Formats: sequence, structure tokens, C-alpha cells
Amino acid sequence: MKLDIAVLSGDGIGPEVTAQAVKVLEAIAHRFDHVFTFKEALIGGVAIDQTGNPLPDETLQICLNADATLFGCIGTPTYDHNPTAVIRPEKGLLKLRKELGLYANIRPVIAYENLINKSPLKREVIKGTDILIYRELSSGIYYGEKKVNEDATKASDLCEYSRAEIERVAHLAFKAAQKRRKKLTLVDKANILETSRLWRKVVKEISHDYKDVTLNLLYVDNTAVQIIVNPRQFDVILTENMFGNIISDEACVIVGSIGLLASASIGDTNCMFEPIHGSYSQATNKGIANPIASILSAAMLLEHFGLIKEAYAIKIAINKSLELKLTTPDLNPNNPLSTQKVGDFIYDYILNPEDSNINF
Ligand code: IPM
Repeated sequence: MKLDIAVLSGDGIGPEVTAQAVKVLEAIAHRFDHVFTFKEALIGGVAIDQTGNPLPDETLQICLNADATLFGCIGTPTYDHNPTAVIRPEKGLLKLRKELGLYANIRPVIAYENLINKSPLKREVIKGTDILIYRELSSGIYYGEKKVNEDATKASDLCEYSRAEIERVAHLAFKAAQKRRKKLTLVDKANILETSRLWRKVVKEISHDYKDVTLNLLYVDNTAVQIIVNPRQFDVILTENMFGNIISDEACVIVGSIGLLASASIGDTNCMFEPIHGSYSQATNKGIANPIASILSAAMLLEHFGLIKEAYAIKIAINKSLELKLTTPDLNPNNPLSTQKVGDFIYDYILNPEDSNINF
């Protein structure tokens, strides 16, 4: 297969971890005889520094022309310490999601056997957890009108959803549930929010098209508790933009490190793949950032294009690195490998795989 991939490494640890994902994709292309081309472009703080714009037009064009975008992360201390700055790295990412029409952000949360003791949660609570979060990505409070009064004593953020925006992501989530354990939990705050009541109404209606899927309704505050005390109860979680952002970050404690969670952002014509972690600026260029979330995002990219055995080859190699404890300090503080060395191991293992028992 031939794939043109836009590479937006962004800020902080983004360039280091994304370089490992690109390297791993090159190994896959080599082993499975594909042609992947990569085109780099600016986004976030680095784009503001060089062009004054967190999403230069050229970057958007490169992403629109590509088959897929591989994204790193954005955010720099300059902007983190200055929340009132009007031009911000995050604006580049939000605009990119909107322009590419990426309305569904898909985040798998899996308790890997090899890492179960890295989680602060009890083994018996998290063992076997396998959750797929569908977060609506291009609407809601992130995109609603924002206002601040003149003397900055009052501010508001509008949360709006249309039926169509709920329907399109809900269909994707129900279809995913059909292929899994056939359970979908809609997370909302329908006791308070009008938007949540609309979500419930629309999702209940849609559920009639998916009679083999059981629909559960759960408030977001209760979800925040349930995901920690009994994560195995969840199969597919469907939720709006802001709740999805918070719940999926919370869920990373199950996995043991935020450096392991990947995501896919999907629309009708474009797709983007990104780790869920932030830019971790303090770690920039220290070689301590975990590249696995970024490499798993590359595996999700391959799965999206139906390259299942290729994605599987990446997972086998990652599993091997975890099994042999060839990992970065977040997972292996006493005897860590660098970001690049972890990438090198996974690259080599893809090109020279051994027979192994896989439990990834
Ligand atoms: C994420 C991130 C982004 C978000 C930020 C960087 C804008 O936290 O992808 O979860 O809030 O959506």
C-alpha cells in the first residue's frame, strides 16, 4: 500500500517520540513491502515562533492532501504560564481538528499484563480492563462562543451540540461495540445540562438500530469513580468533548503510564493519530520520554487502513520491549533505556521478529 503521511511533531517531547513512530513505520514499510512517504509540517508553539500562527496554512494543506496525519503534542511553558495569551498552541490543534472534520477521538485503555504492577490501582481491580473511549472531538464547550466582560470579572464558554453532531459519533461507537463486548455506556450530566439531555435522547433513539448492543447511561461524576473502582464493567464509552478529555486522562492510571495511551481521530475524509500525553516540556531532549504512545498511534494508523498484521507486528515488538523491561524511566526507573533506544529496539524487532507468545 502507498500512504502519504503528514508528520506534525509539535512541541516539547513531540519531535523525539514522533521520530520513533516514523522509524517504526519505516520498518513496517520495509518488512511488508509498503511505500510510506512522510512530509513534516509545523504546528503549535514552534509554529507560532516561526510563523506567528499555531496552524500555518501550509500545514493545513499538507494534512488535507495526506492520507493520514501523525501528530506529536503541543504546548510550551511560555504559553502554559500565560493562559490569557490570545495566540496559543492549543488553538492550532483545535483548528486542525475542525478543518479536517475529525469528530471522533478513539482512545483504547487496556491493562497490559506486563505493566499491571505499574498502576497505583490494585491488580485484582484492573486486570482484564479493556475500554474503548469514543470522545466527540469537534464541538461542545471547546468550540462554543467564549466571552469575557470588559473588566474581566465575568466569563462564559458556550456548550452547544446539534443532533447531527451527536448522531455521527454515536453510530461509530455503536458499530465498535458490536465488534466487541456489545456494551455501550453514554457518559453525560443529564441531571443538569440541556446538551446532555439531547445526547441521551439521540443516543437512545440510535440504540434501536443496534439491538445487539446494551446501552447504559451514567453521569460523568459517577463515571469518574466507577472507572477507578470497577473499570472492567466498561466496554465502549461514548461521551462529549470535555468529559471525554477528562475521563480518558483519568483512565491512564489503569494502564500505568500516560506514555502508553494512543488515540485515533477520525472524520469522514481525514484521520489523525496522536498520543494522548502532553508536551512534557521539562523532559525535552533528555531522552526520557516514553515513545510507546506515539508508536501505538502509528499502529492505530495502520489498523485504520486495514493493515492489521502490520499493526500487530508493532504490538508484538512493543510487548517484547515491555516483557524485557527495555523501557524508559517512567516504567523502568532503575535501569532505563532512552527514548531513541526503545524506538531502536522496536524497529529491530519488527525487522527481525522471533517466535514469541503474545499477550499484548
Ligand atoms: C487532548 C489534549 C488537548 C485537548 C489539548 C492539547 C488541546 O489535552 O488531546 O486530550 O484538550 O483536547
